[in-house]
Amino acid sequence: TRKIIIDTDPGIDDAMAIFFAFQAKELDVLGLTTTYGNVPVDIATKNALTLTEIAGVDVPVAGGVSVPSAIEPRPFPDFVHGADGFGNIDYPAPTKTALDQTAAEFIVEQVRKYPGEVTIVALAPLGNLAKALELDPEIANLVDEVVLMGGTAVEYGNVSPVAEANIINDPHAADKVFGAPWQVTMVGLDVTHQVLLDNTILERIKAQNPEQGNFLYDCAQFYIKFYSDRFGVEGCYFHDASTIAYLLDPSIFGIELGAIRVACEGIALGQTIFAPQGMEYPEPHWDGVPMTQVCMEVDGERMLKLFEDVMVAV
Ligand code: BDR
Ligand code: CA
Repeated sequence: TRKIIIDTDPGIDDAMAIFFAFQAKELDVLGLTTTYGNVPVDIATKNALTLTEIAGVDVPVAGGVSVPSAIEPRPFPDFVHGADGFGNIDYPAPTKTALDQTAAEFIVEQVRKYPGEVTIVALAPLGNLAKALELDPEIANLVDEVVLMGGTAVEYGNVSPVAEANIINDPHAADKVFGAPWQVTMVGLDVTHQVLLDNTILERIKAQNPEQGNFLYDCAQFYIKFYSDRFGVEGCYFHDASTIAYLLDPSIFGIELGAIRVACEGIALGQTIFAPQGMEYPEPHWDGVPMTQVCMEVDGERMLKLFEDVMVAV
């Protein structure tokens, strides 16, 4: 099994990703670390605890940063995930509580405990990862891989024409994460905008795995309505869950290598600017920046089938 820490702002697609990871036998979830993004961090932490309770797993939760490192906070997108992060379903509060440690401390501790073995799956703004690197820069050499949902190389953005939500929520942190000497894999809008999850799949999951399935179905109705009102599509993008699909079967994706820098000001704020491997530019900003694996293509049918298969195997 592969040891992972999920850094998250649950969030409806985060919930899908987290249950997907809990269900996958190949993955050992060491903990959930939380941050602001879809909701304020205290709600994200409660939601993460709720997800562990619904799934009946004993996975610790550590709360993390509440604001961006160097810009003003953005408003929370309650029109996408609801004010509660779960599509306004009024779910009861969890009984478990979070660790005393911060998210960054938890990440450093676990990476040090299992050198070379821990993969960080980041589904939210990247402040906790940047903080962990600050606390202990050496972890960049001790982490197996960082797989993040965020950014876009060539697809339109979802917060501005060029910026994706997780990156624009803390561009400075994101630029540090792409620049650190660890293996980063970016699962961004280039692939997540190609795959729609619809109610027929959620209904089948609910029939076989009612605990998790009913919850996901109930949350997803608000999220699906947002996408259908806004884009006229039937279903929702399940952005964050694509990272788990990548971990379970990377052959679903077409990957390109390149250096990523993040625009930290101006109208391109939060843009992930992709310099493909082998291109040489007179502008020096990408010199010496490590190669990110950027997911550019995806077999959507295989990804959805993998999600369903794993979710119904109870
Ligand atoms: C990302 O932003 C959040 O709204 C989602 O949970 C996902 O992590 C998509 O842009
Ligand atoms: Ca998220």
